[in-house]
Amino acid sequence: MTDSVKFLLPEEKMPKAWYNLAADLPTPLAPPLHPGTMQPVGPADLEPIFPRAVIEQEMTTERWVDIPAPVREVYRLWRPAPMIRARRLEKALDTPARIYFKYEGVSPAGSHKPNSAVPQAFYNQQEGVKKLATETGAGQWGSSLAFAGSLFGLEVEIYMVKISYNQKPYRRALMETYGARCIASPSNLTNAGRTILEKFPDSNGSLGIAISEAVEIAAANADTKYALGSVLNHVCLHQTIIGEEAILQMEMADDSPDVIIACTGGGSNFAGLAFPYIRENLKNGGKTRIIGVEPASCPTLTRGQYAYDFGDTGHLTPLTKMHTLGSTFMPPGSHAGGLRYHGMSAMVSHVKELGLMEARSYWQTECFAAAVQFARAEGIVPAPESSHAIKGAIDEALRCKAEGKTETILFNLSGHGHFDMQAYTDYFGGKLVDTPFEEDDLKAALAVLPKV
Ligand SMILES: Cc1ncc(COP(=O)(O)O)c(C=O)c1O
Repeated sequence: MTDSVKFLLPEEKMPKAWYNLAADLPTPLAPPLHPGTMQPVGPADLEPIFPRAVIEQEMTTERWVDIPAPVREVYRLWRPAPMIRARRLEKALDTPARIYFKYEGVSPAGSHKPNSAVPQAFYNQQEGVKKLATETGAGQWGSSLAFAGSLFGLEVEIYMVKISYNQKPYRRALMETYGARCIASPSNLTNAGRTILEKFPDSNGSLGIAISEAVEIAAANADTKYALGSVLNHVCLHQTIIGEEAILQMEMADDSPDVIIACTGGGSNFAGLAFPYIRENLKNGGKTRIIGVEPASCPTLTRGQYAYDFGDTGHLTPLTKMHTLGSTFMPPGSHAGGLRYHGMSAMVSHVKELGLMEARSYWQTECFAAAVQFARAEGIVPAPESSHAIKGAIDEALRCKAEGKTETILFNLSGHGHFDMQAYTDYFGGKLVDTPFEEDDLKAALAVLPKV
């Protein structure tokens, strides 16, 4: 075992294919259903909003999907991303565990999101699309698509959840720097937005509403397509470059993880790190525990129902079988905007149902405490979303300490928090509160799940 801190793959070792877990699942995924007919959707149903190459990736069960050379060229701006041994955090915790993290905050937008934004922009440009419409929660995905759009000459229009739009003016400025237009959602530019504003004029917005607005714009304009930053199979696919790199980097470290941890919003950074390791567990005798961590204020995997539901509040998207709090559920405002989504990736949900992963939830103040402890040991200020993974990793390291076990923990540091400093200011000022949802609101939202 080396005494290195950083494990850096040379550029020529960057994986040339994404890994598709659908090829190795013991039972196949339930098909997505058309919102009008409730029948399984076919490629033609998705063509108004997605390019053909993306639809193919959404449905494929091929194990490996080649990463196109122009996408790899862009990836090389920041990939391979470093894997770092958190030796100072280990010392601060006085744990016998070895803690590593994969650091995705080195991308231009500051998170894992460009791993999917870049190929999505590329495939759209290849098929002659002029404009992309999308939603963003924390602003990480919006910034990533704005960045990718600027590289491939696409106009980008972003519906940003209103609470984040107000909390994070510099994320907005970043999107505008890349040439995108950023609109607070709910807006009065779409039917979906106007409907919400009529009922709830002071709505904070939600990812479910912002998705409805962006899908509506794409469906209504022939030159415009929609891009989603998480949840869908093709997004999980694109993110697997994280785990494929990590496997090579763990070999460099002459180590292998006993526990893998990532935060879960729509599930994409989790899928990116975890799916290659789930393959190792399923096919090559691996025994790695896989843990998804979510906010207690929006606990999809731990409190949601596994059922068919809409991906958006306006009910424009196909229904997928997933862990859901109900598409009408409005999660309380929190600083981890990227985790405030009522649903979960169908693939991640399926993996949970198959018992191939565990899930747990934490409150935001305990996650900020973990983030501050991490920053003071390792120097990197994490995104509020990523702080959930850090809290999970610290708890596992403390468990190892209590049990006297030398386990290896690997977590995904999905992004930095340089645009989230207001949240840290609020935390230090004692203004950050843990806001439980009303149990009756959850009951009401689950009671109106679509009957399938
Ligand atoms: C830094 C960061 N991590 C995690 C997430 C959660 O998304 P996902 O579950 O798709 O990785 C987001 C979403 O915006 C994010 O910005």
